Amino acid sequence: MSAVIENLKKAIIGESMAKRKYVLYAQKAKEQNLTGIAHLFYAVSFAEAIHIKTHLKALSKINSSDKNFKDFIKFDEEQIKKNVGDTKDNLFEAINGETYEFKKMYKSFIKNARKEDIFLAEYSFDLARKAEIVHSRLFKKYLEKLGKHKIFPPIEIYVCSICGHVELRNQPKICPICGHDEKFFKKIDLE
Ligand SMILES: [Fe+2]
Ligand SMILES: [Fe+2]
Repeated sequence: MSAVIENLKKAIIGESMAKRKYVLYAQKAKEQNLTGIAHLFYAVSFAEAIHIKTHLKALSKINSSDKNFKDFIKFDEEQIKKNVGDTKDNLFEAINGETYEFKKMYKSFIKNARKEDIFLAEYSFDLARKAEIVHSRLFKKYLEKLGKHKIFPPIEIYVCSICGHVELRNQPKICPICGHDEKFFKKIDLE
């Protein structure tokens, strides 16, 4: 089987786990009265859902003969629940996860997609990788603030519905990652 198909599946499972994990982290942050951090976790969870969508789209085009092509999306929910710590630990874990994705996982997936000349997958991996860099940067910023006991005043958070780029405070005119305009940004409510 093509390495790229395997890579797309791996990425979709990884992003599905991250999406779920961040909702649980958001709930934990809320419990600890860290609503600003909960808000960021919800936003990044939504961003991971965008990655799942675009990877699935690429997979369905490449692997169109397989009618049950979504059946492989399985992960251990209990394990994810068990790994929820307090918000500081969760931010650490989130930074590690995002860093692994952009430094290792997506880098090697992009290489394989280039080798097999499957642009659709390469593009999807590349957008996700760039978005993960921003996610990790934002988690780092929030972890620093938390360490310095700074408060998190309510702010607006926007997510690009094409690439999962997360932007704090102002809705950008143009997405710095995928180049789509402001109407593609979704404002994330604090659930
Ligand atoms: Fe991410
Ligand atoms: Fe974008």
